[in-house]
Amino acid sequence: MNAITRIALALCASFAACLPATAQDSAVDLLEVKRCYICHEMTQTIIGPPYAAIAARHGQRRDVMTEVLARKIVNGGGGNWGLVPMVPNQWVSLDEARTMADWILSLNAEQ
Ligand code: HEC
Repeated sequence: MNAITRIALALCASFAACLPATAQDSAVDLLEVKRCYICHEMTQTIIGPPYAAIAARHGQRRDVMTEVLARKIVNGGGGNWGLVPMVPNQWVSLDEARTMADWILSLNAEQ
């Protein structure tokens, strides 16, 4: 089990709603395979904001924000969290980005 999976499982206890295992597994796998962990972690700011903070900020508008965040993941961009922009992640497809964005936003589903 990798570090992100362990953290995700630990957080499942505090975030009441976790997605069905399959969707969650593939999103968590993608975050690992696509190397998002270099800049993102569950609860700590590394270079980018923590997933829990992203969920808290955008989770209420999950329907719209899944697509907005997916495009930002692929194309890069800044201005929402600080001075450092996110680099483009061109090796991520829009579909993969949607899967990850939807999972990140689901962390806030109960609030
Ligand atoms: C080189 C560092 C870096 C990498 C790699 C990276 N990010 Fe980011 N990410 C950032 C930074 C910095 C921000 C804050 C951008 C801003 O201020 O709007 C960010 C913001 C985000 C946001 C929130 C955007 C918003 O507007 O609120 C999401 C979602 C996100 N990243 C997902 C991902 C995913 C998924 C991956 C892996 C494919 C990834 N990031 C890879 C640095 C990175």
